[in-house]
Amino acid sequence: MPYETIQVKPSTAVIGAEVSGIDLTKPLGNQQFQEVHDALMAHEVLFFRDQKLTLDQHKAFGRLFGELSVHPNTKGPDGHPEILPIHADANSKRISGERWHSDVSCDPEPPMGSILNLKVIPPVGGDTVFASMYAAYDALSAPMQRFLAELTAVHDGAPGYSRTNQIIGNATPKVFPRSEHPVIRTHPVTGRQAIYVNPVFTTGIKDVPDAESRSILAFLYEHCARPHWQVRFRWEADSIAFWDNRCVQHIAMWDYFPETRSGYRVTVKGDKPFYRAG
Ligand code: SIN
Repeated sequence: MPYETIQVKPSTAVIGAEVSGIDLTKPLGNQQFQEVHDALMAHEVLFFRDQKLTLDQHKAFGRLFGELSVHPNTKGPDGHPEILPIHADANSKRISGERWHSDVSCDPEPPMGSILNLKVIPPVGGDTVFASMYAAYDALSAPMQRFLAELTAVHDGAPGYSRTNQIIGNATPKVFPRSEHPVIRTHPVTGRQAIYVNPVFTTGIKDVPDAESRSILAFLYEHCARPHWQVRFRWEADSIAFWDNRCVQHIAMWDYFPETRSGYRVTVKGDKPFYRAG
């Protein structure tokens, strides 16, 4: 795809691209916005370096892609409810995103994208790994694709968020979103099919016995985690990763304890997942 206002260098043959020639602290013109959007659709996750965004600039960049959502469990800094702090240090008992997931897939209209800007990174480690759920779907046999296309999964925020709250000692009772989504979702922009279940939020497959549900999910989790459709991002201070939750899962590596890793995420609202036969 030709780009006129940015440079886009694929990170792997399957997923991820590093974008340069752009300053995200400044408002983007229409063409530059369109090219960033096109690059995201083509590569599923984009990486930017040396972007020293203020929280307001971070939100303004996110808002180009849609309304921002407020996280159902974690409060933002004062005056910035749409900002999700991502922070771990020597006192941390857990970190966000330690298992494969698509952000807040328990929501009835889960986020289309997330934009993470890390400010402090450990001397080594703290990478994020992203996996293409398009490629994972495409690698399945046609009979398996047809079988999965008929299934619906339950996604529930309660088990994961309650466990987090227990670990960090937050006793405030909360009600978390719970939703049903197709196991295979059609991307609303590209029309491609993607696997849409993950071990953080998916609690079962509807209308099948528990044993079958467990086996189907175990197969899919192992399949989705294969290295063939992954890219591993090595952060620098002020890097940004912008991923499309509709076709990407990710996992954060907590291999740097007791060092500090810290930054902010904005999350762009999405729409209700659907499946349309291709
Ligand atoms: C997340 O958004 O799940 C956290 C990702 C990360 O910290 O790398």
